[in-house]
Amino acid sequence: MTTPPQGAPAAPAGAPLVPVQPLDADLAPGSATPPAGADGPAPAAALGSDRDIVAALPLAEKVRLLTGADSWWTHGKPEIGLRPMLTSDGPAGVRGTVRDERYPSASLPCPSAAGATWDAELVQRLATALGTEAKSKGVDILLAPTVNLMRTPLGGRGFEFFAEDPVLTARLATAYVRGVQRAGVAATVKHYVGNDSETDRWIYDAQISETVLRELYLVPFEACVREAGAWLIMAAYNKVNGSRMTENLRLLRGVLKNHWGFDGVVISDWHAARSTRATAVATLDLSMPGPEGPWGDQLTQAVGDGTISEELLNDKVVRLLRLARRVGAIDGTGGHPAAPAPSPAAHRGDAADGAAGPAAPEPALVDPDLLRTVAAESFVLLHNREGSTADARDSAAATRGILPLAESALRRVAVLGPNAIHPTIQGGGSAGVTPVSVASPADSLRAALAGRAEVVTALGCQTWHMLPEPPIRMLRDPVTGEEGVRLEFVTGDDAVPVAEHRGSANLVWWDTPDGIGWGKPGRIVLSAIFRAEHSGCYQLGVAGVGALTLSADGVTVIDGVTPVPEDPVEAMTRPGQLRAALWLEADTDTELRLEFRPAADGAGPLTFRLGVVPDAEDETLLAEAETAAQGADAAIVVVGSAELTESEGFDRTTLSLPGRQDELVRRVAAVNGNTVVVVNSGMPVLMPWADQVAAIIHAWLPGQSFGDALADVLLGAAEPGGRLPVTLPAAEADCPVLRAAPDSGGALRYAEGLLIGYRGYDAAGTRPLYPFGHGLGYTSWAYESLHCPGAVDEGEDLDVFVTIRNTGQRPGKEVVQAYLAEPGRPANRGRPVRALAAFTVIRAAPGEAAVARLRIPARAFAHYDEDLASWIWPGGVFTLQVGRSSRDLPLRAPVRWGVGRAPGG
Ligand code: BGC
Repeated sequence: MTTPPQGAPAAPAGAPLVPVQPLDADLAPGSATPPAGADGPAPAAALGSDRDIVAALPLAEKVRLLTGADSWWTHGKPEIGLRPMLTSDGPAGVRGTVRDERYPSASLPCPSAAGATWDAELVQRLATALGTEAKSKGVDILLAPTVNLMRTPLGGRGFEFFAEDPVLTARLATAYVRGVQRAGVAATVKHYVGNDSETDRWIYDAQISETVLRELYLVPFEACVREAGAWLIMAAYNKVNGSRMTENLRLLRGVLKNHWGFDGVVISDWHAARSTRATAVATLDLSMPGPEGPWGDQLTQAVGDGTISEELLNDKVVRLLRLARRVGAIDGTGGHPAAPAPSPAAHRGDAADGAAGPAAPEPALVDPDLLRTVAAESFVLLHNREGSTADARDSAAATRGILPLAESALRRVAVLGPNAIHPTIQGGGSAGVTPVSVASPADSLRAALAGRAEVVTALGCQTWHMLPEPPIRMLRDPVTGEEGVRLEFVTGDDAVPVAEHRGSANLVWWDTPDGIGWGKPGRIVLSAIFRAEHSGCYQLGVAGVGALTLSADGVTVIDGVTPVPEDPVEAMTRPGQLRAALWLEADTDTELRLEFRPAADGAGPLTFRLGVVPDAEDETLLAEAETAAQGADAAIVVVGSAELTESEGFDRTTLSLPGRQDELVRRVAAVNGNTVVVVNSGMPVLMPWADQVAAIIHAWLPGQSFGDALADVLLGAAEPGGRLPVTLPAAEADCPVLRAAPDSGGALRYAEGLLIGYRGYDAAGTRPLYPFGHGLGYTSWAYESLHCPGAVDEGEDLDVFVTIRNTGQRPGKEVVQAYLAEPGRPANRGRPVRALAAFTVIRAAPGEAAVARLRIPARAFAHYDEDLASWIWPGGVFTLQVGRSSRDLPLRAPVRWGVGRAPGG
């Protein structure tokens, strides 16, 4: 259950700040530099007294505090004024302890979309709003941001990462951490480190050289710790160089704590702590979830018999108390009184049918206008050519491309494609939330053009892996008659402790009533009256991990068992689904009854869902889309990922769009020269039709405001402000890293070294379809001059000034990007041809010039030297290259750097 254990009386008053003594300094290849600290609420106070408090706690009490109380809560300790703290996922919205339509969340553009804004100030604003929503829901610890790198475009969780480049990731991740922590909520930087793909994520051993770790994968973590003062780091499931990340002495105690001076809490990824001593010694601080786990009695015993020092435990508890002070979970520190978070316990409470728990205060959801703005700022206009007919364009458009559409010339617009009607607003897995609302492209364009142009829609083809739930208006609760379904939790002895109305047939639980769940004898029963709107054959599906039955009007149509997936998260993201086809008459009631007995050996979140769709042939759907496109003034084709294409728990197997979407685009483009394709996917997809369409917008997984932001951009109310945070390949074979499957021994070799993303394309001389950093707006820019000192003093940052001018017809945004090319290319193989060093956003009016100031950090001129275990500055003449993408760099200047050693490591 997720009820917080009780809070307690006031803590002792604060005392002066005393830094925690570093543990064995031998692992630190450099001096410990205290982090800058967040610019949020009061930093940790009273550490001296915390050490005293901890020293006075009985051993078993300290151990208890170091494992979660349940799925999401930590333990409290009323005697010392410590209340339990609440954790919640995740980067694109704060879910809370339940995934339930009764407690919705703002659904943000996914992190790869945030990456596409290249705008740290905007990301910080969004993160502060997210932190504020979290706080209003009683959440103390947000399990975000995810700062792994897009090593492979197939990575299932790539949509949760900001970019393929460490500098872009670091700049946006630090803004995110600052934003969340400014709201008084702790950010958790995850997954430390090497969790850049999902295949066998629980067991693979990422074999990464020290240079590559330091220069690529650790960069965002280091920045979040040293610059943004992150309060938690999450240790990943995988191993790095032979040691599990929860047990990785060198990377946790050595690099993170001793070298970077991290003073926060290292939390395990969920169930990632698998040993007692190794995790404790490596300085994992908090094992989640609880109450079980590898610590508990075993840890108490290990300290008792002297295998583990009590000082090691004291340090963990001191860190936990410091975190509690930071988020206000200790009395007397001015923290927030946690709003009651929705929990099954609170809301099922007395188990009375339909009874609600205590009324929680209204959550402060992220402002939908901000979500709409960020989505438009993330949309990347990949190309924008003239359409083939003049109908959709005014005269100015003849020179600037088909977008924005000239509204006055639109009479009929075809909005086509599976994602126009069923958009994929978020990726699968722990990052998912129940959105407050969803604006689909079809609905938003219809609303935006109402009274001015007709909007016709067509699905085009089917892409789902799992049958989607039917529109809720087609389902009725048989008891109350309301829209929705009836749920009963039935125990092994046929008692019904909980019966309730639900407004969704797509259900997920982390905690269920006693007697029901994995390995328990109980079952969950869903009943509903389904009313078809058209007569015809329908596909019905029931999904979950375990035994499933479905009866229609008392006749059993499905009765079977689905397999237990290897990764527990797949019980939520892609449980097995059993299907049947049924003929249903329009406007006739059908009584549906579904039963689900969770598998005895299942694990992870429990999912149970009903899917119903009309049986349809792709051939018919494609023909309907073609017909709708014929004669329309513009055809907007929204293609992309289906619900389960991109998810935590598995990698994609192909970069091709699912289903027959490529064919859909080609067929529409063949009959309508004003075809605009919108790609709704969190990561790259192949676009074999790119040269056949007038314009392409990459729209990512844009959260709840997708349709509204898209209408703004297509009709010109907003500019598409995004630039690619990841290279878009012309073919799969061109990707520097494609499949990330470990070998049979579990080794996942990062053999490409430093050459991921654009660095790999540059080194191989391969031309991407669209390069890293690319994106057009609705205006044009001239890069006029670069002012760059010819030499930099050792250890200094370099300030450069770039003058650009808006040469187009409307105000716009430009992302000025500076890359550094090392001396000695092409001889120094294995080093990148160029690497992003700094960037900034400029906005200017038509005709206006603006000066971009870019600070190139001293670190950009350094290498990590494995023999010296230190950063070194090899010196020489670098070339600074400035422009609008990694392949469009019109301004260049030489910069001399003196030879040197790392100033302060
Ligand atoms: C994910 C984490 C997430 C945690 C809690 C894990 O499976 O890897 O990112 O925060 O679950 O949901």
